[in-house]
Amino acid sequence: MSETLVSLWTDVRKRLEAAGVDTPVLDARLLLEAGAGVSRLEIVTDPRRIVDDAQVEAVNALTQRREAREPVSHILGRKHFWTLDLAVNANVLTPRPETEFVVEAGLQETLPADAPHRILDLGAGSGAIILALLKDRPNATGVAVDISEKAIETVRVNAEQLGLADRLEIRQDNWAASLDERFDLVVSNPPYIRTGDIDELAPEVSRFEPRLALDGGDDGFVAYRIIVAALPRLLKPRAAFALEVGIGQAEAVRAMAEEAGLSTTEPRRDLSGIPRVVVGHAA
Ligand SMILES: C[S@@+](CC[C@H](N)C(=O)[O-])C[C@H]1O[C@@H](n2cnc3c(N)ncnc32)[C@H](O)[C@@H]1O
Repeated sequence: MSETLVSLWTDVRKRLEAAGVDTPVLDARLLLEAGAGVSRLEIVTDPRRIVDDAQVEAVNALTQRREAREPVSHILGRKHFWTLDLAVNANVLTPRPETEFVVEAGLQETLPADAPHRILDLGAGSGAIILALLKDRPNATGVAVDISEKAIETVRVNAEQLGLADRLEIRQDNWAASLDERFDLVVSNPPYIRTGDIDELAPEVSRFEPRLALDGGDDGFVAYRIIVAALPRLLKPRAAFALEVGIGQAEAVRAMAEEAGLSTTEPRRDLSGIPRVVVGHAA
């Protein structure tokens, strides 16, 4: 019997369930769209449409990758973040919904929308945070830093695709080691997983995301110590910073910032109520 869009969707969904994927319905639809070259609307409005052998084969190839727990974002090469459609790959962390709270904090803490300001993103990865900020602040310019050459290439691709390349300087650096400038806003989502915990994470993360993007050292705080120590020389007077933190890390990072002479406010919580972004200002 011929496969239809809905029967193929069901087959893929069952295979992903059996492989332990935790969002099998959604992922199956995304793989069906990409492999068969159909839109979500076509699947919903014309579910009994016959798919040809080439479409089945293409969906099958994508499904095998997902069964091996490769993230959907890597398979599709794209991820939606804030208002952006970003290119992603195995060299960058796939941007997470909770990181949108860093963007939101940054927008609320910076100067009025029309003021020209300079923004620094330390550990830019795909460029998600800095590109979202630049898109929403047309008078801002920024610097994106990452130590990974391949991440830097991805930021460049995204900046160009989004038409933001002329407002973004992209630098390969070890955090802010060679930066000699002060900013109106510094943002960062550094690696914060304890080294010993990485192998316990879901295979999508532990096997497919770059270690450099995950590994926060023995206690998870190695990057925060370096970044927070650098903030006083990176911020203009009264300028703001917003740092994403892992579960249970907010108070310790806040204390580090206060010790460095910065003032902090109540950390912002994510949709699960977890304190997720440490926010503060220079004196
Ligand atoms: C958790 S990822 C965040 C990526 C992106 N900002 C996001 O939120 O999706 C951390 C990033 O920090 C970068 N990184 C790790 N160590 C670094 C270092 N010493 N200097 C600069 N960047 C570093 C990694 O390459 C990675 O891209």
